[in-house]
Amino acid sequence: MKNFVKKILPVKMQSKFREIYMKRKLNKIVNFDKNNFFDSSYALGKKNSLENLRAKITFHYHSIEKGLSNANLRYAFGKKKFDELFDVLDLYVSLGHPTDDLRFQQSLSTISSYVKLHEDTEYDISFVTNRFEKLKKYMLPKLNNIGGYGIYNFENDLYKKMDFKDFMLNRHSVRDYGKKEVDEKDVLNAIELSIHSPSACNRQSWKVHYVKDIEKVKKIISIQRGLTANAENIQGVLIVTTNNEYYNWEYERNLGHVDGALFSMSLMMSLNYYNIANCPLSAGFAMDQEIGIREVVDIENKENIVLLISIGSFPEQFKYAKSPRETLENVVKIYK
Ligand SMILES: Cc1cc2nc3c(=O)[nH]c(=O)nc-3n(C[C@H](O)[C@H](O)[C@H](O)COP(=O)(O)O)c2cc1C
Repeated sequence: MKNFVKKILPVKMQSKFREIYMKRKLNKIVNFDKNNFFDSSYALGKKNSLENLRAKITFHYHSIEKGLSNANLRYAFGKKKFDELFDVLDLYVSLGHPTDDLRFQQSLSTISSYVKLHEDTEYDISFVTNRFEKLKKYMLPKLNNIGGYGIYNFENDLYKKMDFKDFMLNRHSVRDYGKKEVDEKDVLNAIELSIHSPSACNRQSWKVHYVKDIEKVKKIISIQRGLTANAENIQGVLIVTTNNEYYNWEYERNLGHVDGALFSMSLMMSLNYYNIANCPLSAGFAMDQEIGIREVVDIENKENIVLLISIGSFPEQFKYAKSPRETLENVVKIYK
């Protein structure tokens, strides 16, 4: 077919034909992606599969562990979040999913951490304790401390002194920051280090929009919505984008996000290396957010917004959400 088209059509028409052909291929594969997402995601698929509920449970307990790690902790916070979490946990149990599952256990441990925090206070948290009562029996003693929040003492160059393994085990998203001013040079050094990230065919389509203007930063945080309860002393947001002009046919439609994600991880680690506390913030935006962010910082449509990263200095002591991780067995599948 290709050769036939080449033979009979003039060059201009060949290129038009090719364009139509490629657009059709792109639409087809985008539809394939869309249908997969429709079928699987827990909001759209509505299958309440084990994985759907594990995700929902994690989503809800994570917002509670974030609240627990807040620098300005509000006692008795999160009634609505707890209601949602307990609804999913009850559904999970009623569907007979395994209660020794790690995510299920992580959520119980997070709830328990919340309850412990309120012991010996006069705050009424019956909206938690009442519904927790019938789930307590599922708690496995060896896992009862995995959730909640941790506390870290920061000293300068903390992360520079660590070997790679320690670094990986001790890097945490930091959502509230110290008062010390961040040196712009350190941020630029971190960005420069991240430029050494790998990318598809070394195309390096990335850009970092470094927003320092505090009014713009506040606007971005309010549009993004994932850090609104935190962000004390925030000093900037880095917006990582990749440019679609660097990519080829339909099979490269997602490569910008892959390249940008690899770059972003390097950037977060480099920021730690240069003593800059940071937190990745989702750029999984609804349309109004997408437009809103692009207006604040003037990002063209050809750029994919891959990730936002809030930055500030480390406080002497910081609290972090424990965000416990999966076991190796749950993650790896070996083909022999
Ligand atoms: C793509 C992405 C989006 C995220 N979005 C948010 C967010 O909107 N708000 C937030 O507080 N944390 C956000 N996080 C941080 C995660 O909650 C955090 O990385 C996870 O709980 C693991 O904890 P750790 O980074 O401390 O190891 C995001 C992380 C990633 C990778």
